[in-house]
Amino acid sequence: MSEIHKNNDFKDINEGRRSIRIYDSSVKISKEEMTQIINEAVKAPSSINMQPWRFVVVESEEGKEKLRPLVRFNINQLETSAAMIIIFGDLQSFDYAEKIYSTAVEKGYMPQEVKDKQLSTFSKYYETMSREKNIETVLIDCGLVAMNLMLVARSHGYDTNAIGGFEKDKIAEAVGLDKDRYYPVMIVAIGKAKDPGYPSYRLPAEEITSWL
Ligand SMILES: Cc1cc2nc3c(=O)[nH]c(=O)nc-3n(C[C@H](O)[C@H](O)[C@H](O)COP(=O)(O)O)c2cc1C
Repeated sequence: MSEIHKNNDFKDINEGRRSIRIYDSSVKISKEEMTQIINEAVKAPSSINMQPWRFVVVESEEGKEKLRPLVRFNINQLETSAAMIIIFGDLQSFDYAEKIYSTAVEKGYMPQEVKDKQLSTFSKYYETMSREKNIETVLIDCGLVAMNLMLVARSHGYDTNAIGGFEKDKIAEAVGLDKDRYYPVMIVAIGKAKDPGYPSYRLPAEEITSWL
Protein backbone atom coordinates (compact mmCIF):
# COMPACT_ATOMS: atom_id res chain seq x y z
CA MET A 1 0.00 0.00 0.00
CA SER A 2 1.36 3.46 -0.84
CA GLU A 3 2.13 5.72 2.10
CA ILE A 4 -0.74 8.02 1.29
CA HIS A 5 -3.35 5.24 1.23
CA LYS A 6 -4.55 4.52 4.72
CA ASN A 7 -7.02 1.82 3.81
CA ASN A 8 -6.90 -0.84 1.13
CA ASP A 9 -9.72 -2.98 2.46
CA PHE A 10 -12.56 -2.63 -0.02
CA LYS A 11 -15.17 -4.13 2.28
CA ASP A 12 -14.30 -1.63 4.97
CA ILE A 13 -14.13 1.26 2.51
CA ASN A 14 -17.54 0.42 1.08
CA GLU A 15 -19.46 -0.81 4.09
CA GLY A 16 -17.88 1.69 6.47
CA ARG A 17 -18.81 4.66 4.30
CA ARG A 18 -21.54 6.79 5.73
CA SER A 19 -22.34 10.45 5.51
CA ILE A 20 -20.21 12.46 7.88
CA ARG A 21 -21.52 15.92 8.61
CA ILE A 22 -19.09 17.12 11.31
CA TYR A 23 -15.35 17.01 10.65
CA ASP A 24 -12.19 17.77 12.58
CA SER A 25 -11.66 21.28 11.26
CA SER A 26 -7.97 21.22 12.19
CA VAL A 27 -7.31 18.58 9.51
CA LYS A 28 -6.65 20.02 6.05
CA ILE A 29 -5.90 18.08 2.88
CA SER A 30 -2.84 19.22 0.96
CA LYS A 31 -3.24 20.30 -2.64
CA GLU A 32 -0.98 17.43 -3.64
CA GLU A 33 -3.12 14.82 -1.90
CA MET A 34 -6.38 16.37 -3.11
CA THR A 35 -5.02 16.27 -6.65
CA GLN A 36 -4.18 12.62 -6.17
CA ILE A 37 -7.65 11.88 -4.79
CA ILE A 38 -9.24 13.53 -7.82
CA ASN A 39 -6.90 11.73 -10.21
CA GLU A 40 -7.95 8.43 -8.64
CA ALA A 41 -11.64 9.34 -8.68
CA VAL A 42 -11.62 10.15 -12.40
CA LYS A 43 -10.95 6.51 -13.19
CA ALA A 44 -14.75 6.37 -13.21
CA PRO A 45 -16.32 5.45 -16.53
CA SER A 46 -18.18 8.05 -18.58
CA SER A 47 -20.29 8.18 -21.68
CA ILE A 48 -17.93 7.79 -24.69
CA ASN A 49 -15.15 8.63 -22.23
CA MET A 50 -15.93 12.34 -22.46
CA GLN A 51 -15.27 12.81 -18.72
CA PRO A 52 -17.57 15.83 -18.35
CA TRP A 53 -16.83 16.24 -14.62
CA ARG A 54 -15.20 19.46 -13.46
CA PHE A 55 -14.23 20.10 -9.85
CA VAL A 56 -13.99 23.24 -7.77
CA VAL A 57 -12.25 22.56 -4.46
CA VAL A 58 -13.45 25.13 -1.96
CA GLU A 59 -11.08 25.04 1.00
CA SER A 60 -10.15 28.61 1.88
CA GLU A 61 -12.07 30.79 4.32
CA GLU A 62 -12.88 33.20 1.49
CA GLY A 63 -14.11 30.40 -0.74
CA LYS A 64 -16.27 28.96 2.02
CA GLU A 65 -17.78 32.39 2.72
CA LYS A 66 -18.94 32.49 -0.90
CA LEU A 67 -20.68 29.16 -0.41
CA ARG A 68 -22.23 29.98 2.95
CA PRO A 69 -25.43 31.57 1.60
CA LEU A 70 -25.86 28.75 -0.91
CA VAL A 71 -25.61 25.56 1.14
CA ARG A 72 -28.92 25.77 3.00
CA PHE A 73 -28.93 23.39 5.99
CA ASN A 74 -25.44 22.07 5.27
CA ILE A 75 -23.55 24.66 7.32
CA ASN A 76 -21.76 22.18 9.63
CA GLN A 77 -20.16 20.45 6.66
CA LEU A 78 -19.16 23.81 5.20
CA GLU A 79 -17.61 25.03 8.43
CA THR A 80 -15.79 21.88 9.52
CA SER A 81 -14.78 20.01 6.33
CA ALA A 82 -11.31 20.20 4.87
CA ALA A 83 -13.01 21.11 1.60
CA MET A 84 -16.30 21.27 -0.20
CA ILE A 85 -15.72 19.80 -3.65
CA ILE A 86 -18.26 21.12 -6.11
CA ILE A 87 -18.81 18.82 -9.07
CA PHE A 88 -20.06 20.42 -12.26
CA GLY A 89 -20.97 18.74 -15.52
CA ASP A 90 -19.38 20.48 -18.49
CA LEU A 91 -22.04 20.81 -21.16
CA GLN A 92 -19.25 21.43 -23.69
CA SER A 93 -17.29 18.33 -22.77
CA PHE A 94 -16.94 17.43 -26.43
CA ASP A 95 -14.39 20.27 -26.75
CA TYR A 96 -11.99 17.79 -25.14
CA ALA A 97 -12.79 14.93 -27.51
CA GLU A 98 -9.80 15.48 -29.79
CA LYS A 99 -7.41 15.69 -26.84
CA ILE A 100 -8.84 12.59 -25.14
CA TYR A 101 -8.85 10.43 -28.26
CA SER A 102 -5.55 11.59 -29.75
CA THR A 103 -3.80 11.03 -26.42
CA ALA A 104 -5.26 7.52 -26.35
CA VAL A 105 -3.78 6.92 -29.81
CA GLU A 106 -0.36 8.34 -28.79
CA LYS A 107 -0.30 6.07 -25.75
CA GLY A 108 -1.15 3.05 -27.87
CA TYR A 109 -4.52 2.53 -26.18
CA MET A 110 -6.45 2.92 -29.43
CA PRO A 111 -5.59 2.55 -33.13
CA GLN A 112 -5.80 5.74 -35.21
CA GLU A 113 -8.55 4.27 -37.43
CA VAL A 114 -10.74 3.54 -34.43
CA LYS A 115 -10.28 7.10 -33.16
CA ASP A 116 -11.16 8.59 -36.55
CA LYS A 117 -14.22 6.43 -36.96
CA GLN A 118 -15.51 6.93 -33.43
CA LEU A 119 -14.90 10.66 -33.32
CA SER A 120 -16.70 11.29 -36.57
CA THR A 121 -19.71 9.31 -35.33
CA PHE A 122 -19.70 10.96 -31.90
CA SER A 123 -19.22 14.49 -33.20
CA LYS A 124 -22.38 14.22 -35.30
CA TYR A 125 -24.20 12.90 -32.25
CA TYR A 126 -22.96 15.72 -30.00
CA GLU A 127 -23.75 18.41 -32.58
CA THR A 128 -27.42 17.49 -32.55
CA MET A 129 -27.75 16.54 -28.91
CA SER A 130 -30.42 18.48 -27.02
CA ARG A 131 -29.50 20.37 -23.86
CA GLU A 132 -31.78 18.02 -21.90
CA LYS A 133 -29.99 14.94 -23.19
CA ASN A 134 -26.62 16.59 -22.50
CA ILE A 135 -27.69 17.34 -18.92
CA GLU A 136 -28.95 13.78 -18.47
CA THR A 137 -25.58 12.47 -19.66
CA VAL A 138 -23.47 14.68 -17.38
CA LEU A 139 -25.66 13.88 -14.39
CA ILE A 140 -25.03 10.16 -14.86
CA ASP A 141 -21.30 10.56 -15.46
CA CYS A 142 -20.81 12.99 -12.59
CA GLY A 143 -22.81 10.72 -10.27
CA LEU A 144 -20.35 7.94 -11.02
CA VAL A 145 -17.32 10.13 -10.38
CA ALA A 146 -18.87 11.40 -7.15
CA MET A 147 -19.29 7.85 -5.86
CA ASN A 148 -15.72 7.03 -6.84
CA LEU A 149 -14.52 10.18 -5.10
CA MET A 150 -16.28 9.16 -1.89
CA LEU A 151 -14.69 5.70 -1.93
CA VAL A 152 -11.24 7.01 -2.88
CA ALA A 153 -11.52 9.52 -0.02
CA ARG A 154 -11.99 6.63 2.41
CA SER A 155 -8.93 4.89 1.06
CA HIS A 156 -7.04 8.07 2.01
CA GLY A 157 -8.49 7.99 5.51
CA TYR A 158 -11.11 10.68 4.97
CA ASP A 159 -14.88 10.69 5.00
CA THR A 160 -17.43 12.52 2.92
CA ASN A 161 -20.99 13.70 2.58
CA ALA A 162 -22.77 13.95 -0.74
CA ILE A 163 -24.72 17.19 -0.75
CA GLY A 164 -27.55 18.04 -3.09
CA GLY A 165 -29.11 20.67 -0.87
CA PHE A 166 -27.64 23.86 -2.31
CA GLU A 167 -28.67 26.70 -4.60
CA LYS A 168 -28.06 25.10 -7.97
CA ASP A 169 -29.03 28.17 -9.94
CA LYS A 170 -26.46 30.38 -8.18
CA ILE A 171 -23.43 28.20 -7.51
CA ALA A 172 -21.61 28.40 -10.86
CA GLU A 173 -21.55 32.18 -10.87
CA ALA A 174 -20.56 32.27 -7.18
CA VAL A 175 -17.36 30.40 -8.02
CA GLY A 176 -16.71 32.30 -11.23
CA LEU A 177 -17.98 29.77 -13.78
CA ASP A 178 -20.26 30.23 -16.76
CA LYS A 179 -23.63 28.92 -15.55
CA ASP A 180 -24.83 28.06 -19.04
CA ARG A 181 -21.87 25.75 -19.56
CA TYR A 182 -21.22 24.24 -16.12
CA TYR A 183 -24.19 22.34 -14.73
CA PRO A 184 -24.03 21.84 -10.95
CA VAL A 185 -24.39 18.21 -9.92
CA MET A 186 -23.33 17.75 -6.33
CA ILE A 187 -21.10 19.01 -3.57
CA VAL A 188 -18.96 16.43 -1.79
CA ALA A 189 -17.83 17.54 1.67
CA ILE A 190 -14.56 15.83 2.58
CA GLY A 191 -12.47 15.75 5.72
CA LYS A 192 -11.45 13.84 8.81
CA ALA A 193 -14.54 12.59 10.63
CA LYS A 194 -15.17 14.07 14.07
CA ASP A 195 -18.72 12.92 14.64
CA PRO A 196 -19.12 9.22 13.78
CA GLY A 197 -22.39 9.73 11.89
CA TYR A 198 -25.03 7.03 12.03
CA PRO A 199 -25.92 3.89 10.10
CA SER A 200 -28.75 3.93 7.60
CA TYR A 201 -31.06 1.20 6.37
CA ARG A 202 -30.86 -0.31 2.89
CA LEU A 203 -33.67 -2.14 1.16
CA PRO A 204 -32.44 -5.66 0.52
CA ALA A 205 -31.58 -6.86 -2.97
CA GLU A 206 -34.38 -9.44 -2.73
CA GLU A 207 -36.92 -6.63 -2.58
CA ILE A 208 -35.52 -4.35 -5.27
CA THR A 209 -34.27 -6.79 -7.87
CA SER A 210 -36.04 -8.84 -10.45
CA TRP A 211 -34.55 -11.63 -12.50
CA LEU A 212 -35.60 -12.50 -16.01
C1 LIG B 1 -27.50 13.27 -4.40
C2 LIG B 1 -27.45 13.29 -2.89
C3 LIG B 1 -27.76 14.46 -2.23
C4 LIG B 1 -27.65 14.52 -0.84
N1 LIG B 1 -27.86 15.71 -0.22
C5 LIG B 1 -27.61 15.82 1.10
C6 LIG B 1 -27.66 17.09 1.74
O1 LIG B 1 -27.96 18.12 1.12
N2 LIG B 1 -27.37 17.14 3.06
C7 LIG B 1 -27.03 16.04 3.78
O2 LIG B 1 -26.75 16.17 4.96
N3 LIG B 1 -26.96 14.82 3.19
C8 LIG B 1 -27.24 14.69 1.87
N4 LIG B 1 -27.13 13.46 1.26
C9 LIG B 1 -26.74 12.29 2.04
C10 LIG B 1 -27.87 11.29 2.20
O3 LIG B 1 -28.80 11.75 3.13
C11 LIG B 1 -27.25 9.95 2.64
O4 LIG B 1 -26.34 9.51 1.66
C12 LIG B 1 -28.30 8.86 2.85
O5 LIG B 1 -29.17 9.21 3.90
C13 LIG B 1 -27.65 7.51 3.18
O6 LIG B 1 -26.79 7.65 4.30
P1 LIG B 1 -25.24 7.33 4.23
O7 LIG B 1 -24.60 8.27 3.23
O8 LIG B 1 -24.75 7.59 5.63
O9 LIG B 1 -25.07 5.91 3.81
C14 LIG B 1 -27.26 13.37 -0.11
C15 LIG B 1 -26.96 12.20 -0.80
C16 LIG B 1 -27.03 12.16 -2.16
C17 LIG B 1 -26.65 10.88 -2.88
